Amino acid sequence: MKRIGILTSGGDCQGLNAAIRGVAKALYVRFGEDVEVYGIIDGYRGLIEGNYKRMQPSDFSGILTLGGTILGTSRQPFKKMRIVEEDSVDKVKNMKNNYKKMKLDCLVVLGGNGTQKTANLLREEGLNVVSLPKTIDNDVWNTEMTFGFSSAVEIATHVLDCIHTTATSHGRVFIVEIMGHKAGWMTLHAGISGGADVILIPEIPYELDIILETLEARNQAGKRFSILAVAEGALSQDEAKMSKKEFKAARAAMRFPSISYRLANEIGEKIGSEIRVTVPGHFQRGGSPCAYDRLLATRFGAAAVDLIAEQNYGNMVALQKERIVPVPLSEVAGKLKLVPADSEIVQTARNIGISFGE
Ligand code: F6P
Repeated sequence: MKRIGILTSGGDCQGLNAAIRGVAKALYVRFGEDVEVYGIIDGYRGLIEGNYKRMQPSDFSGILTLGGTILGTSRQPFKKMRIVEEDSVDKVKNMKNNYKKMKLDCLVVLGGNGTQKTANLLREEGLNVVSLPKTIDNDVWNTEMTFGFSSAVEIATHVLDCIHTTATSHGRVFIVEIMGHKAGWMTLHAGISGGADVILIPEIPYELDIILETLEARNQAGKRFSILAVAEGALSQDEAKMSKKEFKAARAAMRFPSISYRLANEIGEKIGSEIRVTVPGHFQRGGSPCAYDRLLATRFGAAAVDLIAEQNYGNMVALQKERIVPVPLSEVAGKLKLVPADSEIVQTARNIGISFGE
């Protein structure tokens, strides 16, 4: 009898249920009656608190297209995992005890960067772990793609499309702020797909004057509007020179809710007109996964079960050169996949006249 636990951790994204279903279906096909699946509720919190339930095959039916996660999720910061706080809970000890209590052969973990770090910690602690890379940010190391990303890019692109029509009508400058945490993947992909004129991403710090020159050039060329796709993590060249501490203090003192509002204010003052800001926020993480994410999540799920069958634990399934391959969690944990400033896709954007404000 195989006993498999499964949890989803960190910010949710489209395709989580498709991946859960992929894992479960592949388990039942491969092991039939000889497998028990345990759903751990609300991510690592459920593993810490012993909150889990035995799942039945029917629990995994009808969820392919469903957004969110049927298991629930929570953020349990990796840096606090080994710290015993006021509640006196030894989180690592509890997770190990609950794993043993469930008599698991393997824990399947679906998550982004922080989640992979904790998965690696549990591997170091001797648990059998297999993980899947999920996040709209697409910033997980060693995989070309995470599921959730494409669906979120679709939404962000749709926002840019809609903003285009109103920007054209009014002849306005618009900023659309796009999620992605410290990585610019979403803004880059949606920015190009949605025809943005300026794309600002954390990996390429901007100079305000260059943005103003781009806007002026468009004005001179008779273009009535401009659209800036701005990553939530975008920063100026001056900010890029700051230490982590200085940057944190500068942002804490900023009187605007986000970088886009600050930029709107700065640009507005210079060009003498009001700039409109749209922040789709968590909307980008919601709803049904696109076909690409359903397929990728299913492929990852089935591949995770291959690893379980081979007892090839301690790996994350990853997409590399169109194939799903295992990569050691030890190599993934703690690394961030950022946009290379000289990548082909950035160059493509430059080649068609998109400004990065550099
Ligand atoms: O990591 C996914 C993500 O949506 C990021 O793009 C964003 O910065 C963050 O999560 C938002 O976190 P929360 O859901 O905790 O507000």
